[in-house]
Amino acid sequence: MIMGKKPFIVGNWKMNLTLAEGIEFTKSLKKSLQGKHELICGICPPFIFLKDICRVLEDSGICVGAQNIHSEKNGAYTGEISALMVQEVGCTHVLIGHSERRHLFGEVDSFINAKIKTALGINLKPIFCIGETLHEREEGRTKYVVKNQLKNGLMGIDKNHIEELVIAYEPVWAIGTGKTASPEQANEVHSFIRGFLTNEYGKDIANSVYIQYGGSVKPENTKELIAQPEIDGLLVGGASIKLESFLKIIDAASIQ
Ligand code: 13P
Repeated sequence: MIMGKKPFIVGNWKMNLTLAEGIEFTKSLKKSLQGKHELICGICPPFIFLKDICRVLEDSGICVGAQNIHSEKNGAYTGEISALMVQEVGCTHVLIGHSERRHLFGEVDSFINAKIKTALGINLKPIFCIGETLHEREEGRTKYVVKNQLKNGLMGIDKNHIEELVIAYEPVWAIGTGKTASPEQANEVHSFIRGFLTNEYGKDIANSVYIQYGGSVKPENTKELIAQPEIDGLLVGGASIKLESFLKIIDAASIQ
């Protein structure tokens, strides 16, 4: 953690839970986090739950993010959801460029870049996801891949907007596999990302950007991940859809 920051812990529910389960989870989460100010918590439920969940979390301090948006503001894009739509129901954040979107749905850097610009244009905060595949890591290309994702994803974005970004480093080989990057492996890439931001935008802006780690985060590995100097938060998948494990992660991240 960089001094002066609170850990930012976000749960990405992906395509899980029923609406009733999601609401019950959210009500209990809200109750459990009352008066807990040492960290920032967020959840990213499926689109169709957002309105109800935002209503439950109104004034709770818990952030709600969408899992995706389209890059265009509106138009003939059947089946898509705009940035303004998710903001209108109460979202403050949106996941952009998640590896499942990149690899399962063919999203490319230019589309991701356009989405980031659209989100920033209306003060919706992007959680911009990047990370290498196992093949790329084994070939020693992790930094090259991450740098390109950063360069292309952030192309043309005004320096003044960079502080509003959250970057999530999620090595693809660690997502849903039970294989976590070691805290040192994660910290090394986070440090590289911070270095990139420092070169491009200066030290102050670079230090203010939250860089989360994601990939098989569990209650058991939370403490050592969050203790790394360059890890400002966590993006949790599987362990965020069970209240008990998500609360354990939140607790472990609060005590440092
Ligand atoms: P897991 O925690 O299930 O590995 O998923 C990580 C992730 O993709 C969060 O966005």
